[in-house]
Amino acid sequence: MDLTSVVTDDGSTTLFSEKFQVSYHSLQGAVDESITVFVSAGLDKLLLNGYRRVRVLEMGFGTGLNALLSYIRGLSVSDIQIQYTGIEAYPVPADLITSLQYPAQIGYAQHAEAFTAMHEAPADKTLTINNFQLLKKQVLFEDIDYQNEFDLIYFDAFAPNTQPELWESELLSKMYRALATEGLLVTYCSKGSFKRNLKAEGFQVEALPGPARKREMTRAWKSSTTIKDIKSKLKF
Ligand SMILES: C[S@@+](CC[C@H](N)C(=O)[O-])C[C@H]1O[C@@H](n2cnc3c(N)ncnc32)[C@H](O)[C@@H]1O
Repeated sequence: MDLTSVVTDDGSTTLFSEKFQVSYHSLQGAVDESITVFVSAGLDKLLLNGYRRVRVLEMGFGTGLNALLSYIRGLSVSDIQIQYTGIEAYPVPADLITSLQYPAQIGYAQHAEAFTAMHEAPADKTLTINNFQLLKKQVLFEDIDYQNEFDLIYFDAFAPNTQPELWESELLSKMYRALATEGLLVTYCSKGSFKRNLKAEGFQVEALPGPARKREMTRAWKSSTTIKDIKSKLKF
């Protein structure tokens, strides 16, 4: 079996991949990482900024934990809509998802049915549950091609020491293009070379306190005017 379930320091479970030799979430706390990095620094930031519709692109749908937490957050805010696109090339088998017990673990067992529906939904078909719309795409990150379509990117690929090619210019420029102006990208990674690569693509980059024992995480945004835009305007 390529994937096995492991318990992390906050008591929540995650998966360990034999193929990639890495876990799906931080071993210092899977749920803590998802909430701090993706929901609080990403979704909440846009909701606080007044967004009533948030178009999320998740790079690495995996266990669906980020989707579940975002769905639950969305239910607690009136009059908003979350349109969630999850990219995942290697979907996790349904029995493993069930064994993770995420809805019960986070104290929301009543959403187990919604979580199962998210996993059972076929790729390329939009599922609507309350104010949450989910569209899963079974494609490689490298093959995405979106233009100004998202307000928020959850960049949750395996870390640079596992998949270094995903943290470099080619994919970062695709994500920059995918974001609408003022859109955000959030990720647990705070590696210096990654942040320099983000800046080179035109992102404004911010370091925020990370989850658990991790000092930093990264939030980056596509501002209306960047040094890169100015440079390109000055070229004949
Ligand atoms: C860190 S895990 C994502 C964790 C996920 N967000 C969750 O909450 O469970 C990274 C995910 O990226 C997927 N992945 C790895 N390489 C990929 C690629 N080139 N294209 C698309 N998905 C990929 C893996 O299968 C895995 O599900």
